[in-house]
Amino acid sequence: MADNKKEIQRRRTFAIISHPDAGKTTLTEKLLLYGGAINLAGSVKGKATARHAVSDWMEIEKERGISVTSSVLQFEYDGYCINILDTPGHQDFSEDTYRTLMAADSAVMVIDASKGVEAQTRKLFKVCVMRKIPIFTFINKMDREANDTFDLLDEIEKELGIATCPMNWPIGSGKAFQGVYDRNDREVSLFSDTQRGTKEGEITKVSINDPKIQEIIGIDAFGKLTDEIELLDGASTPFRLDEVQAGELSPVFFGSALTNFGVQTFLEHFLKMTTAPLPRFADSGIIDPVSEDFSAFVFKIQANMNKAHRDRIAFMRICSGKFDAAQEVYHVQGEKKMRLSQPQQLMAQERKVVEEAYAGDIIGVFDPGLFSIGDTFCSPSRKFAYEGIPTFAPEHFARVRQVDTMKRKQFVKGVTQIAQEGAIQIFQELHSGLEEIIVGVVGVLQFDVLKYRLNNEYNVEIILENLPYEYIRWIENTDIDMDSLTGTSDMKKIQDLKGRPLLLFVNSWSIGMTLDRNKGLILSEFGRS
Ligand code: G4P
Repeated sequence: MADNKKEIQRRRTFAIISHPDAGKTTLTEKLLLYGGAINLAGSVKGKATARHAVSDWMEIEKERGISVTSSVLQFEYDGYCINILDTPGHQDFSEDTYRTLMAADSAVMVIDASKGVEAQTRKLFKVCVMRKIPIFTFINKMDREANDTFDLLDEIEKELGIATCPMNWPIGSGKAFQGVYDRNDREVSLFSDTQRGTKEGEITKVSINDPKIQEIIGIDAFGKLTDEIELLDGASTPFRLDEVQAGELSPVFFGSALTNFGVQTFLEHFLKMTTAPLPRFADSGIIDPVSEDFSAFVFKIQANMNKAHRDRIAFMRICSGKFDAAQEVYHVQGEKKMRLSQPQQLMAQERKVVEEAYAGDIIGVFDPGLFSIGDTFCSPSRKFAYEGIPTFAPEHFARVRQVDTMKRKQFVKGVTQIAQEGAIQIFQELHSGLEEIIVGVVGVLQFDVLKYRLNNEYNVEIILENLPYEYIRWIENTDIDMDSLTGTSDMKKIQDLKGRPLLLFVNSWSIGMTLDRNKGLILSEFGRS
């Protein structure tokens, strides 16, 4: 038990989010580098291969240059055991990001210093703020001409509705980027040349009060820095760890992942500010991570990582106790005792079978098609279920037709499995089967993924016919007679796979109208898994 506690308390589990190309892969790689998990030579040339190894299962990622799947990496640094969760960098997959954030205790948001908050990822970042977990900001690519630092901070605050607190401050940008000023220590960290990140480089620390500092960084840079610090100290939100941990204040760091500038400084501060695995809510109350009993929940199901085996991996976050591969666990939703099959972890960039893991860790297990997102696993002697993961209301709908109706079985299997993974939501016409279905997605790119995967993995060709609906509402009343319900003429009555009735609307006005016309009708925006 004492050993468990020690192991659990040294875990730090976080997700990295960014818009595509802001530098998430590079930062992750550099964190691994400082953790000694990869070596420099390996990292630079291994980048392309590492990326492929993790996400090669879907060529659409390469074609579009976006990362659709999330992966998990584990490494050690300074006595901490760190789990990094990767997330897709496109807002069309923000639901996936939300689910991944459910498995994390904090998030690191990487922003390109010359681009700021980009339109296409605004939603993705907002999802992060919505989850109310601590968010740390790393403003990357300071080795390029950057936007004004105050403007960048202003933009984050306005766009995302979260206060910021710079922990350090950049000295110059582009070729003139010399280092960062640490606001707490009142010290300047100067970076040496790393030959574009191929060498680790050295950090020289000089106090801001050192008379030599002007000479070292140059009179102009010194003047600008002192002016900015004065302004900053007078105007910025004071640092408060409780606000950071409540997800209300984001500590901000500056650096360049490519040249290793500021990465280690960031990592060291971050590890001190982020938390060990946090307690989580279950139907039996709050579960302490440092408890005797193992428990975990599934936050992601990923199919066909190895196409040859047609396998499905369920990723689960361990929330309490210790996982022991030899012991039986209880699958709450399936009401069954079982041994988890082929438990594995990604250590640095290698996949390994794990015999034991602790609260805070993520393991991937073979899923024989029994598990769903949100499912709980616990010790057979202490049964409870974690709060489910909410599904987002889809905003785009399409009718799906098969080109070859003879392949009905594969079609049904394909859409059902893809829906189980949480990539799409499927619905049926009232009183009908799965011959013809309606698919709902949060982002339109998911339609492409569906089409591609059905074709590629299930050998089924489909035609998607876009529908004009934008709003979905589940009917909460249990005694509703769908036939007598009257709405607007452009409203559509459908049902989900569990037979629960729903309504689709073209605009929000129709929702209000329908509520007016059917007294006592209760509509909800969220489906429950
Ligand atoms: P992502 O995972 O967020 O999509 O971004 P990724 O790390 O792949 O970085 C995207 C591009 O930005 C890469 O260039 C990468 O080298 C570059 N980059 C990352 N961090 C920095 C930085 O701090 N400074 C500068 N100047 N560039 C940075 P690429 O040309 O697409 O790939 P590559 O040919 O360099 O591998």
